Amino acid sequence: MTRPCTVVISGKGGTGKTTIAALLIDALVAAGERPVLAVDADPNANLHEALGVSITETLGSMREEAFTRSIPPGMDRTGYIRYRFQRALAEAEGYDLLAMGRPEGSGCYCFPNALLTECIGTLERGYRFVIVDSEAGMEHIARGTIRSPDILLITSDPGARGMRTAGRIRDLAEALGLSRDRIYLIVNRDRNDAAAGDTPLIARIPEDPAIGAADLAGTPVVGIPEDSPSRVAAQALAGRLVGECARRRE
Ligand SMILES: Nc1ncnc2c1ncn2[C@@H]1O[C@H](COP(=O)(O)OP(=O)(O)OP(=O)(O)O)[C@@H](O)[C@H]1O
Ligand SMILES: [Mg+2]
Repeated sequence: MTRPCTVVISGKGGTGKTTIAALLIDALVAAGERPVLAVDADPNANLHEALGVSITETLGSMREEAFTRSIPPGMDRTGYIRYRFQRALAEAEGYDLLAMGRPEGSGCYCFPNALLTECIGTLERGYRFVIVDSEAGMEHIARGTIRSPDILLITSDPGARGMRTAGRIRDLAEALGLSRDRIYLIVNRDRNDAAAGDTPLIARIPEDPAIGAADLAGTPVVGIPEDSPSRVAAQALAGRLVGECARRRE
């Protein structure tokens, strides 16, 4: 089984990480790149809403109980953890969704990280892509929530200030050992092909009234019309990622 291609979406608050993650997951599944594992690494989990999926527990809440509670009779702890993990995994058409929830105590995700890796390994679902929606800012990179993805996508608003923030996130990721050729910029809410700074650009997602309408109505963003410009752009992004991941496997 080939290893999945891990894509982490990072960026300043409100630049469209969750929206783009949802549209990208939808586009990958539609293109036959399935199954996808969607990971919501934002403690304020909301990727499930963008996808229109309900979740019953998070990796954080599971961790807390699986290690502090007494185990049901007839089960060992590892078995219990696996069982809880299965419950935390929301299954949808073509993808599974896992929310990390809040890290316990020190704010360190290291433990859930190791557990996540192990549990994903035991699933043997043959995920083609793992798409990670992260929390705003750079802390998750500094904390090592997401270790060495195959590709890091940094979302930004158009405009110089946004580009500078994106540049800082890229510099931090590089300083922590991620190679520069794995880092790409996405300009979101793009108008008139805004200048994109010096991080290689992988996609421009236009400002899309259909996203605003879904937001207002409280409906999943993946329900916007097929020909919505942001959706078309997300399909192109999915195509680029499929190519990039294949190239890196060769
Ligand atoms: N291309 C777009 N066109 C129109 N509206 C958009 C677009 N992208 C995102 N939005 C809107 O911008 C807001 C922020 O988007 P989103 O929640 O995806 O950002 P985020 O980076 O995940 O935010 P956070 O940092 O809080 O997690 C939402 O109201 C969303 O509907
Ligand atoms: Mg978000």
